[in-house]
Amino acid sequence: MRIILLGPPGSGKGTQANFIADQYSIPTISTGEILRTAVKCNSKLGNQIKKIMDAGKLVTEEIVISLVKRRLSQADCYTGFLLDGFPRTIFQAHAMKVLDIKVDHILEFQVPDKLIIARLSGRQIHERSGRIYHTQFYPPKTPGQDDITGEPLVMRNDDHKETVYQRLTEYHKRTAPLIKYYAAETLMNNTKYHQLDGTLHMTILKKIISNLLG
Ligand code: AP5
Repeated sequence: MRIILLGPPGSGKGTQANFIADQYSIPTISTGEILRTAVKCNSKLGNQIKKIMDAGKLVTEEIVISLVKRRLSQADCYTGFLLDGFPRTIFQAHAMKVLDIKVDHILEFQVPDKLIIARLSGRQIHERSGRIYHTQFYPPKTPGQDDITGEPLVMRNDDHKETVYQRLTEYHKRTAPLIKYYAAETLMNNTKYHQLDGTLHMTILKKIISNLLG
């Protein structure tokens, strides 16, 4: 099974990616995660990426495409994968086409901007595992601690209000056009395009997605 998750920041892509990856035993390829790992290396490139991400902008096409290309060539992706956060521009979608990377399903999460601010200001993550919580909508059993390891949860650097506004601007300008693009593309191939109400409770969404993917 090969899946793309599409939607604005904070629309629940990462949350559902964790559920789907568990259920279908396919690797999640989150470009955001790959880039955050690159930032931790403290290299010159890592520092350049950090500046872009902290400003809420999109990282250069060439960097992102080469990272995804390399990741998809690994053996665990042969039977399927879930792309979370890629493609994020028409240019990246074209690159996928050129590389002949086909997908079975595209899931688009629809959430209004107003709700996204509330979601991201309360998001907490367990850095090592990628587990995602929310102080109000999905609280950990003990405030501030990961349910499994008890390790501290952190806020992402790009979840501060000003950066979230910038990320939303980038989404509407550069990623939202993919919705029309894929609506047309999927008419011409076997990919199924699903629009989801991302404001539903995450467990309800999980069930809906499970039914759609079969
Ligand atoms: P990335 O890490 O991909 O961030 P994003 O796409 O902006 O999405 P988020 O991870 O913020 O949100 P999400 O949709 O996964 O929501 P989540 O499930 O966590 O990218 C970060 C940066 O990397 C980009 O800004 C860019 O700089 C760079 N980048 C990445 N990919 C790139 C690319 N392809 N090209 C160029 N640059 C790239 O949920 C959010 C919160 O809401 C959580 O607290 C969660 O608990 C809660 N929640 C989830 N679902 C629900 C629900 N149904 N109801 C209530 N609460 C919910």
